[in-house]
Amino acid sequence: MRTQVAIIGSGPAGLLLGQLLHLYGIDNLILERKDRDYVLARIRAGVLEQGTVDMLDEAGVADRLHKEGLVHGGVELSFSGQRHRIDMKTATGGKTVTVYGQTEVTRDLMDARDAEGLTTIYDAADVSLHDFDGDRPRVRYTRNGVSHDITCDFIAGCDGFHGVSRQSVPADTLATFERAYPFGWLGILSDTPPVSPELIYTSHPRGFALCSMRSPMRSRYYVQCALDDRVDNWPDAKFWDELKRRVDPEAADHLVTGPSIEKSIAPLRSFVAEPMRFGRLFLAGDAAHIVPPTGAKGLNLAASDVRYLSLALREFYADGSHAGIDDYSRRALARVWKAERFSWWMTSMLHRFPDSDGFGGRIQLAELNYLVGSQAATTAMAENYVGLPF
Ligand code: APR
Ligand code: PHB
Repeated sequence: MRTQVAIIGSGPAGLLLGQLLHLYGIDNLILERKDRDYVLARIRAGVLEQGTVDMLDEAGVADRLHKEGLVHGGVELSFSGQRHRIDMKTATGGKTVTVYGQTEVTRDLMDARDAEGLTTIYDAADVSLHDFDGDRPRVRYTRNGVSHDITCDFIAGCDGFHGVSRQSVPADTLATFERAYPFGWLGILSDTPPVSPELIYTSHPRGFALCSMRSPMRSRYYVQCALDDRVDNWPDAKFWDELKRRVDPEAADHLVTGPSIEKSIAPLRSFVAEPMRFGRLFLAGDAAHIVPPTGAKGLNLAASDVRYLSLALREFYADGSHAGIDDYSRRALARVWKAERFSWWMTSMLHRFPDSDGFGGRIQLAELNYLVGSQAATTAMAENYVGLPF
């Protein structure tokens, strides 16, 4: 088999890249380790920056997003029992975010790929990457016990944090930077109306909490939990009780509870691998970097990588120029690190750290009071939350 760009992974990064390349007339196929339903069952964050929405528009997959997505011009911060609205739209001269689940983005991209008749090979086992330091890279995989060989011009490693792409480069060519946080998020999804029209990020002595949503009838809530905690320890009633203890009194009064339809615990981690290009292999999305979910930057960063990469490949095929390809890693990482900083800052400000002393707690409170009291600080948060320019 032969293709121009072999994409590893059919998460949002791989699917969006495939769609844009197709639009630019660049042939591609996707290799995915799991099956379609498995990929669609993963629940992840759901806040899209305007730039991400614009890319989905360009890719021709934003019809449902515009119909069902919820446009938000602000978020709320809750601490010391009080809520403060950050008016992002005013602070940024009119920018907003759109609440639309990553699962739905993935579904729309898969549907568009199917409609165009583009190849996705699901259940691809033992994917291995070869010769990407030369002009003729190859990808090998096994399916139903039969092994296959793909030759291509480029490989795009969009296979997430645990994927094979990053692991395929010689260890001495890769620098990694990491911070693990001493807590996780316990999240539930429920078919109940959201407690408030906008997201509420809460700092509380018992720990962080987040009130989010997927639609006017579906809510997503999180509470900070211990790293070694397990969902079995959290029957629904206990979750709702804990959430009510952390949110402000008005939210606690208005919270509509109901049975959970999904419940999971995720650790929080910051991670960056440098560089993001090795000869004819590119890394994009979670394959290259992870952010803690505070600030909802994961999917948006995957999209911005894909933007730089798709434009670089278009330039290569249209003009024979290597300039975009040579600059991909530098451009992508410059934006990645700003989002890493923002996500780390939001995480540090809002969570209860087990080893924190009184001083640390007072500093967090001062930071929050400064943030809601200063136009300069509000603007700094708002411009990051809605997404920095590409
Ligand atoms: N071979 C083929 N496919 C693989 C392999 C492999 N060896 N390893 C992983 N994959 C697939 C996974 O099954 C998954 O479907 O690659 C895909 C990677 O998708 P994501 O993990 O969703 O990563 P990405 O597309 O970069 O999306 C980033 O996901 O984790 C969130 O917060 C993150 O929202 C952000 C988004
Ligand atoms: C979510 O809705 O899942 C969500 C929203 C905002 C975040 C993280 C997760 O910062």
